[in-house]
Amino acid sequence: MKFNTKTIHGGQENTDPAYGSVMPPIYQTSTYKQTTPGGHKGFEYSRSGNPTRAALERSLASIENGKFGLAFGSGLAAIDAVVKLFKPGDEIVSTNDLYGGSYRLFTKIYENFGIKFHFVGMQNAADIEKYINGNTKMIWVETPTNPMMNIIDIEATSVIARKHNLLLAVDNTFATPYLQQPLDLGADIVMHSATKYLGGHSDVVMGGLVVKDEALADRLYFIQNASGAVCGPQDSFLVLRGIKTLHIRMQRHCENGEAVANFLKSHPRVKQVYWPGFEDHPNHEIAKRQMKGFGGMISFTTSEGTLESAVKLVEKLHVFTLAESLGGVESLAGHPASMTHASIPKEEREKTGVVDSLIRLSVGIEDAGDLIEDLKNALG
Ligand SMILES: Cc1ncc(COP(=O)(O)O)c(C=O)c1O
Repeated sequence: MKFNTKTIHGGQENTDPAYGSVMPPIYQTSTYKQTTPGGHKGFEYSRSGNPTRAALERSLASIENGKFGLAFGSGLAAIDAVVKLFKPGDEIVSTNDLYGGSYRLFTKIYENFGIKFHFVGMQNAADIEKYINGNTKMIWVETPTNPMMNIIDIEATSVIARKHNLLLAVDNTFATPYLQQPLDLGADIVMHSATKYLGGHSDVVMGGLVVKDEALADRLYFIQNASGAVCGPQDSFLVLRGIKTLHIRMQRHCENGEAVANFLKSHPRVKQVYWPGFEDHPNHEIAKRQMKGFGGMISFTTSEGTLESAVKLVEKLHVFTLAESLGGVESLAGHPASMTHASIPKEEREKTGVVDSLIRLSVGIEDAGDLIEDLKNALG
């Protein structure tokens, strides 16, 4: 199956043997009848497995060209499960410009358990090698990065990971498998905040992992069940429904993203626009090679360069909603320094470009002209 067919049918054969419903039923149950101890039809308790969640997990595996999918109660719960593969003394080399919550989980929770993180600018993949030693176990990559839209070369990073026998995990939340498929580029684990583009309608919080290797999948399934951060059947249904339109939504996100990025670039009250589709983006060539399009995530700074100018601007928007999150059909605007990235100390975030005048846009699938008009009015 091609990608656009997989979003709709991938892993969905025979989801309802009872009545043949086209969508899988929402199995709102915590437990399953056994005829004799251990005599069940494949499900015994909904933390360990639920048929609606299983349908979603098969869909996740299918769209990412993996073999095994795992769904969690949030993106962070999915990342948490990955870090639980490791033990005190182990080291992880991570992208330095990443979602603030991932940074918080790594530094505020897992450093206390003796796992060491190195936050590294990975725009030049060769730089990663400087931070690898005998204790290193994994490279954690986010690309495009949140919120600076840096692009990291997944294939080049996977060569380094193989050479040192490390796992490579890629947070594919921004790109989605419509734009890039990290497992095909050599990654071992793909992670999603399914809250974003996969769900696509800002109505659910969920996370996902996809892997190819069965032994790794077994370890992660063990953690998923043992730690228990699973999602419910209703939310599984919603994300499964969202995935069915992922390809057409992403196509429009990319078109609108391009129109908005070009508008911002030409506006005198905008200083810098970060979007991987620009030819002068430092890793544009890598983006062109590993992505099918450039997406609808854009960050920019105001020409005044102040916190006040950014705050005033986002307050004046009407079609864009000032809100956390991204990836829904509706356009959102955020102020990373005070919202999504507030958990990163100011000195740290400013090193990567997350300055007070930075605004992040999740360009939705409304009419592009209305979005540009809204920005024009707010910029004044
Ligand atoms: C790139 C990225 N990774 C992970 C997460 C965490 O996902 P969740 O909010 O679903 O826990 C987010 C949330 O914004 C994100 O943007």
